[in-house]
Amino acid sequence: MKDLSHIRFEIPDIGDTSPVVSIGAGGIVEGAHLPAYRMAGIPVAGIFDINQEKAEKLATAFHIPKVYSTMQELTSENTTNCIYDVAVPGSKIIDVLPLLPDNSYVLIQKPMGEDEGQANAILDLCRSKQLVAGINFQMRYAPYILMLKQMLAEKLLGEICDLEIYVNVYTPWHMWDFLKGAARVEILYHSIHYIDLIRNVLGEPRSIYARSTRHPKMPHLAEVKSNIIMDYGDMLRVNISTNHIHEFGSHNQDAFVKVEGTKGAVKIKLGLLMNYPDGIPDVFEYVLPDDDPVEWHQLPLQGSWFPHGFIGTMYEMIKAKQGVIPHPDNSVEDCINTMRLVEQAYQQQNSVKMLDEDV
Ligand SMILES: NC(=O)c1ccc[n+]([C@@H]2O[C@H](COP(=O)([O-])OP(=O)(O)OC[C@H]3O[C@@H](n4cnc5c(N)ncnc54)[C@H](O)[C@@H]3O)[C@@H](O)[C@H]2O)c1
Repeated sequence: MKDLSHIRFEIPDIGDTSPVVSIGAGGIVEGAHLPAYRMAGIPVAGIFDINQEKAEKLATAFHIPKVYSTMQELTSENTTNCIYDVAVPGSKIIDVLPLLPDNSYVLIQKPMGEDEGQANAILDLCRSKQLVAGINFQMRYAPYILMLKQMLAEKLLGEICDLEIYVNVYTPWHMWDFLKGAARVEILYHSIHYIDLIRNVLGEPRSIYARSTRHPKMPHLAEVKSNIIMDYGDMLRVNISTNHIHEFGSHNQDAFVKVEGTKGAVKIKLGLLMNYPDGIPDVFEYVLPDDDPVEWHQLPLQGSWFPHGFIGTMYEMIKAKQGVIPHPDNSVEDCINTMRLVEQAYQQQNSVKMLDEDV
């Protein structure tokens, strides 16, 4: 059996870094950003939220030295000597970016706006202000995904011919107030992670096909389930299937990323999605059929998609600011392509619905 003990996740050594300044003190900052930065030793110098109480609560919990009462106070004190960490609802990003100093570094929580029009406006703003900006698509840097990428880089799986993401869980959508009445839900707020991950691993697809559906018990929500096909030609099947309303207990819940190649396969159980937000343990399994007998094995995991993946998105910004890399891997210039695919996934099914109506 091949020794794969070197395939593992380690928290990176961040080195000297400018501090982070948080804009937004909501659930994701409390549950993922700040815990990740604490783990990796990334300093947070200050925090602002239009709801000052929320900012004060997180400042106390995470020992953040300064709570700002206005954006003007925050930017005049930090200028370009920090990394701005914007985690406000997608529709509000466009209000926050103009307030940041030109030439600053900024990590923006996903989605990059609520549709392609907003994404383009965000991109234009970043270009005109010469911001070095990245998007918080953190699944790319989840520990098990970094391990998968290590295996792919070593060509352990051979030629990739199948990538499947399957989700059959009960997601507590009520946790996100802003989704009530939103025109787009499942792809824009959830499957977007998978679309981004697949692009990140396989490159750009030829096209995308999607069909999303709502749920009769959730009339206040747009789509909550999706079938998505990303077209990579006739030798590579890529499929995302999500049902977030499997309300029948944990027995048949499941969520995984499975990658098959000509020499082996990996299956990653996404434990976080089951019993969200507490989750159950993730599992990383692999098989290399050259091993005799053919058996699935497990690799030990340290950390998960939340919060460890959030180290990766910020680390890209830090490396760019340190001058170690020319631009973050999760730059707006790259992530706009994820937003374009999301838009195509919605537009394409709108045209299918119009055909339905014609019949
Ligand atoms: N990457 C991920 O996996 C992930 C996970 C969850 C949420 N998110 C995204 O993060 C964003 C925030 O989600 P959340 O769960 O923290 O929501 P939330 O409602 O808990 O928090 C949003 C916060 O932003 C603040 N805010 C709004 N406008 C602001 C402004 N102009 N300036 C400063 N603060 C402002 C609000 O007062 C609120 O505290 C959403 O876009 C969501 O899609 C991403």
